Amino acid sequence: MSTLSERPDSASVGLAIPHESAALHVTGAALYTDDLVYRTKHVLHAYPVQVPHAHARVTALRTEPALAVPGVVRVLTAADVPGVNDAGVKQDEPLFPTEVMFHGHAVCWVLGETIEAARLGAAAVEVDVEALPALVTVREAIDAQSFQGGQPQLARGDVEAGLARSTRVFSGEFEFSGQEHFYLETHAALAHVDESEQIFVQSSTQHPSETQEIVAHVLGKHSSEVTVQCLRMGGGFGGKEMQPHGFAAIAALGAVLTGRPVRLRLNRTQDLTMSGKRHGFHSQWRVGFDDDGRLQALDATLTADGGWSLDLSEPVLARALCHVDNAYFIPDIRVNGRIARTNKTSNTAFRGFGGPQGMLVLEDILGRCAPLLGLDAAELRRRNFYSAGQSTPYGQPVRHPERITAVWDELCERSEFDARRAEIERFNAEHEHVKRGLALTPVKFGISFNLTAFNQGGALVHVYKDGSVLINHGGTEMGQGLHTKMLQVAATTLGIPLHKVRLAPTRTDKVPNTSATAASSGADLNGGAIKNACEQIRDRLLHVAGARLGVPAADVRIVDGVAAALGGADGVLWDDLVFTAYMQRVQLSAAGYYRTEGLHWDSSTFQGSPFKYFAYGAAAAEVEVDGFTGAYRTRRVDIVHDVGDSLSPLVDLGQIEGGFVQGAGWLTLEDLRWDESDGAGRGRFLTQAASTYKLPSFSEMPETFNVTLLRNATEEGAVYGSKATGEPPLMLAFSVREALRQAAAAFGPAGTSVDLASPATPEAVYWAVEQAREHSARGHVVEGGNGAVPPQPGADAPPMRPRSEQVLTDVSHV
Ligand code: MTE
Ligand code: MOS
Repeated sequence: MSTLSERPDSASVGLAIPHESAALHVTGAALYTDDLVYRTKHVLHAYPVQVPHAHARVTALRTEPALAVPGVVRVLTAADVPGVNDAGVKQDEPLFPTEVMFHGHAVCWVLGETIEAARLGAAAVEVDVEALPALVTVREAIDAQSFQGGQPQLARGDVEAGLARSTRVFSGEFEFSGQEHFYLETHAALAHVDESEQIFVQSSTQHPSETQEIVAHVLGKHSSEVTVQCLRMGGGFGGKEMQPHGFAAIAALGAVLTGRPVRLRLNRTQDLTMSGKRHGFHSQWRVGFDDDGRLQALDATLTADGGWSLDLSEPVLARALCHVDNAYFIPDIRVNGRIARTNKTSNTAFRGFGGPQGMLVLEDILGRCAPLLGLDAAELRRRNFYSAGQSTPYGQPVRHPERITAVWDELCERSEFDARRAEIERFNAEHEHVKRGLALTPVKFGISFNLTAFNQGGALVHVYKDGSVLINHGGTEMGQGLHTKMLQVAATTLGIPLHKVRLAPTRTDKVPNTSATAASSGADLNGGAIKNACEQIRDRLLHVAGARLGVPAADVRIVDGVAAALGGADGVLWDDLVFTAYMQRVQLSAAGYYRTEGLHWDSSTFQGSPFKYFAYGAAAAEVEVDGFTGAYRTRRVDIVHDVGDSLSPLVDLGQIEGGFVQGAGWLTLEDLRWDESDGAGRGRFLTQAASTYKLPSFSEMPETFNVTLLRNATEEGAVYGSKATGEPPLMLAFSVREALRQAAAAFGPAGTSVDLASPATPEAVYWAVEQAREHSARGHVVEGGNGAVPPQPGADAPPMRPRSEQVLTDVSHV
């Protein structure tokens, strides 16, 4: 076992403890960035001037009327920027734009004594624009060939040969929707300037170091002149990985120009209309199977809806390409990726970071093709799992592929799959207007940032003279329980009880050059760094203890706060040991560092081993669909998930349940809509409140919900044998979508393949049910049978039918 993964006796990691802030969360005592405003004097409030055009050139901006509004102090415009007028790292996101790129784009910001004064001031600003043509849908962007960023290709083998070898070949298209993060806490920043012009920004950000860098470049300052702190976030989900920077920069600019603290917090409508979402995708594909239903070849083009600027679209697309295989071996494969530029908010990271989108393409293919291949969908999936010795299309050997089948088999057992499938068949035979479906889907998710350099973490650990311990690390807390896990790691490494360790808020002046808390790697990276820092201090203390006990340091262990020689009866109490060390002038503080070993990635060839390991899981979902309305409910969900040896089982359980429900929201409830008409409101985001954007709530929770962590799952390559948990469970929700497809298909004859829109809202399910019924009347799939491989549907393909009835063609050449 590696020293990284090995757990000592009576370790704090692995204890099922509540989230470290649970009591504060539920009592309302937990402080979020905007709560600090009420503890700060002389604060100014920032309010955006949003322009209601999807695409337009600003021809005049008159700010004087705003200054006439009582309480308005200043209007921030491009002319005020001392450094670079850009909110991002790609230089394609002007902070104060002269071209409005999406409906609601902010062109300037008003500072007021109250938020109301700032709002009235913003309303008084006069903006003249010249309207420009706008692309709203990804389809329109494809037709107009409006793309941005690189167009990568993932390839292995010879896809044409693979298709020619296949006995069944299908082709189709699938367009699916994005998702709004809907974190409870909207974007927020509070900036101060001190007497030496040091900038201090409190920001709700997953990436304090990048927020710091962007604030610095906007202000024309060095990073050392800017400190960013994140207390905690009320949810980030990827939405605060890149998007907080511009808002923090506005607050910081205001603070520098006025000398007063400036607060910027978006209200919900502003957050929904200004910040980016999960990328929706368009995909077109050809797939080949052999007689046994084994995947032979996949040829696909994935187009991500990037919105108006690149933001994180390129890495999101890369992860989509690297996850198109999910848990399945595809010998010959070619997947092209591209990013549409549309006049919408700039789409960004969202839990899974493109992985869910890539996987959805193949899971949709399997769900649609299984009935045409005459196979049960679960059986089709199982037949195609990776096995020992196989590699992903990007050339990385699949580590622990046997865990896919282990997870799957345990799931089949725990969910009583065979018995329930038979029961559902009986139920469906007996009920004409209500049908049930039960589907199993797997998840294989690569852990690490694709970009190797990001896979490093830092920590700073202080032991004070009285034996109390304060830890800092580079990760941010957004509800995912990272801080809880880090406290457990520190207590474990030092060998002391958990209550002796405290954690300080994340700050760039404590731990520099951090990566975003993202890619689910927070615990791997920061845990590795904390362990490293604590080991340095512990090793120094072991020498002090060895000298006191008269044994070599190597023979001393610190367990439960007592340092004792192996097999020895006498011990030194931790507090005593620490004070002794201090008196002997032994350093009681250490900076820790960790980098993930063994990673490499070539983004130009799309080859390498970008991931340290894979997280595995599988879910079984049962749904019931009403044939009159398409309304459905989720009757039961069983999950088996691989978190390695859990650092914190309750936290992981929460991540799995929450991730699953969030995924089910994306795939079945949450329906983003924009005004696609040619009217005056073109490009307006229509679902701009919880009243029109349906989020999962308690009523959508599965009636029975069983989550099991895979046992005996030590991951040698990660801290204390654990695996990341943050994102992978989201993709377990494919099971709900596939169960809905099967229930809808049950309204038609056996072997019916139905297409299901995503999100599979009740309306979409209704159309799928109709399709199944229609199928029973006249059949809809075209069987070619002339030996020809269908061409890849291109830009000249007929326009997509409504999302719920997309075309799938079977051209078998047997
Ligand atoms: N869980 C909660 N409660 N809130 C969040 O914002 N973000 C998710 C996931 N789980 C999130 C969450 C995302 S997108 C990621 S990448 C991981 O947490 C990040 O944290 P980790 O690296 O510590 O797992
Ligand atoms: Mo998570 S999408 O990697 O912030």
